[in-house]
Order: sequence, then structure tokens, then C-alpha cells
Amino acid sequence: MSLYLVTGGAGFIGSHLSEELVRRGERVRVVDSLITGKRANLAHVPGVEFLEGDLSDVDVAHRAVAGVDYVLHQAAIPSVPRSVSDPITSNRSNIDATLNVLVASRDAGVKRLVYAGSSSAYGDTPTLPKHEEMPTRPLSPYALQKLVGEQYLALFTKLYGLDTVTTRYFNVFGPRQDPSSPYSGVISLFISALVDGRQPIIYGDGGQTRDFTYVANVVDGVLRACHAPGIAGEMMNVATGGRISLNELLATMCDLLEVQTETIYRELRAGDVRDSQADISRAKQLIGYVPLVDLREGLERTLAWYRGAEVASR
Ligand code: UD1
Repeated sequence: MSLYLVTGGAGFIGSHLSEELVRRGERVRVVDSLITGKRANLAHVPGVEFLEGDLSDVDVAHRAVAGVDYVLHQAAIPSVPRSVSDPITSNRSNIDATLNVLVASRDAGVKRLVYAGSSSAYGDTPTLPKHEEMPTRPLSPYALQKLVGEQYLALFTKLYGLDTVTTRYFNVFGPRQDPSSPYSGVISLFISALVDGRQPIIYGDGGQTRDFTYVANVVDGVLRACHAPGIAGEMMNVATGGRISLNELLATMCDLLEVQTETIYRELRAGDVRDSQADISRAKQLIGYVPLVDLREGLERTLAWYRGAEVASR
């Protein structure tokens, strides 16, 4: 039994990772500032050690990493528009905190640190699908911060021999993704609008495409990346390899929910990427990753969860 630190473990992806680790019989410590995470996300996961604190404080990072075997660094302020309106706060969470976790992990001698990178690093490079050899072209502070984080990891591997791996996520969705902020992931916002009978908003013409990835695929990818031998310093996409436009996505969701809606179209958001789709061959080669749940199945599971949560909150 190993001890895993899941940073941001009370958040959306972090809580799914914690849940799966506990299911596998591992020991889990979570550190979370509760700025965007919620204790309730872990309420159903028994035996998790919880440390409330902000990793932009290096003492918190040292306390969190003490005695840990593996670090799954998920803590971040994960929003493009939020980083555009407040780059300093997101820089603190996305870069300063990452550096603190790296230093603490190096000092504690952890076996491996796996970092949540982002597809936003590719920016508006025209080639599709995006592969890891491509140049990066960040379009927002968030994209740049996530890219700096992964470069810091690679540097720590070279400079100090710390074993690090970056998994670049592509638009992850699923149960527990919080729709309560205008900065929330688009699928959670579409679902809450459709379930509440409000009109969903599309920024731009809705022709922009994304490789929407159901969270179970990411959990599987991260845990594979944590244990595959001989990949220190590597970075790889974790996604499904498909893409769908926002207009098509919304039509599919209306179909699954058996509702009709009028869409509100608004001006494109600053920093927005037009098309995003992953080449997943490197993850397949390095860690044996194949997506387990496709978009439609993922949407069905997510819709079922939101309906259940809505009934429970009444
Ligand atoms: C970006 C990253 C993703 C990262 C995420 C963190 C890219 C390609 N992807 O996602 O890897 O995890 O940031 O936040 O850069 N939209 C609407 N209506 C809404 C909300 C959003 O039309 O109500 C649009 C956005 O303008 C965007 C798309 O939906 O075109 C997806 O937005 P969002 O879910 O916020 O994620 P990205 O910004 O694509």
C-alpha cells in the first residue's frame, strides 16, 4: 500500500482520482485550498486524510508531501477566462504552487510526481490532431501557466533527478464538475441550463471543436502514467482523439435529455482556441492508454449524475 498525495483532491478531477485510489486499497492524502474544491466531493470516499491549505505557501507544500510515495498534482485554477480577467491570482495557483510542490517533492524524495497539463498549451497551431512534438502557442495566461508548469517538471527531472510525468488533459467532463461559475466547463454549464429550463449560451458561432474527455479516461491515464516504468520527464496527451463542435455537442445533449432549446449566441471569448483534438498515440505507446468511455456514454453518465444530484438537493 502506497501513500498518494492528490493536490486539489477536493476538486472535480482530484476527487475522482482519490475515489479510484481508495477503491484500489491505496492510502490517500488530499491537500486543497477549497477555493474551487468542496469537501462534499469527497464525502462518499472513506479514509482520506484531508489537509486544508494553499500550496502557494511553501510550508503547506512541505507538510502535504511529507512521507508521500506519489504526488498527483491536480490543484489549479482551471479556467481560461478567469486567467484573462485575473492573471495574478491564477499565476499564484498555477505556477507558484506548482514550483512549491516540486521543491517539496524533491526534498521528500517522492517516487514520482504526475502533473495535470493542459491542451491549451497548443493554442491556435493549425495542425490537427495535436501531437506532443508540435510547437506550443499559448493564447491565455492559463495556457502559458500550465505550460510553464510542465516545463518546470521536465527541468526538475534533468536538474535534480526528480521523476516527473505530465499528462496533458483535453476538456475533461463528468460528474461533480461544478456548473456554478460562469468560468465552469462548458458541458456542466450546458447541462445545468438544459435541466433548469434556461437557454444555453454559446460564445462565437459554435463551430469551434473540442476533444471532450470523460473523467474516467483521465483517471485511468493518470494512474498508468504514475506507474509505467522508464518515463521520467515525459509529457503526453490524455484524451479521446475525437472532436465535436459546440453546436453538435448541444444538439446531442438535447437529444439525450429529450428537450428542445433556443441557444443564445454571444461574442467569442478572449483567448479562446478554435479547434482542439488530441493525437493519443504517445500515451498508447508509453503507458498502454486507450480511452475507456466514449463521448456519448460519458454524456449519458454525466447527465444521470446531474439528474440524481438535482433530485437529492430538492
Ligand atoms: C481550456 C483547455 C482545457 C482546459 C480548460 C480549463 C483548450 C483547447 N482547452 O478549455 O484543456 O482544461 O481550458 O478551463 O484550450 N463556451 C460556451 N458557452 C459556455 C461556456 C463555454 O460556448 O457557457 C465555449 C468556450 O468559449 C469554448 C468552449 O465552450 O470555446 C469550451 O470552453 P471551456 O469548457 O471553458 O473550456 P476551454 O476553454 O476549451
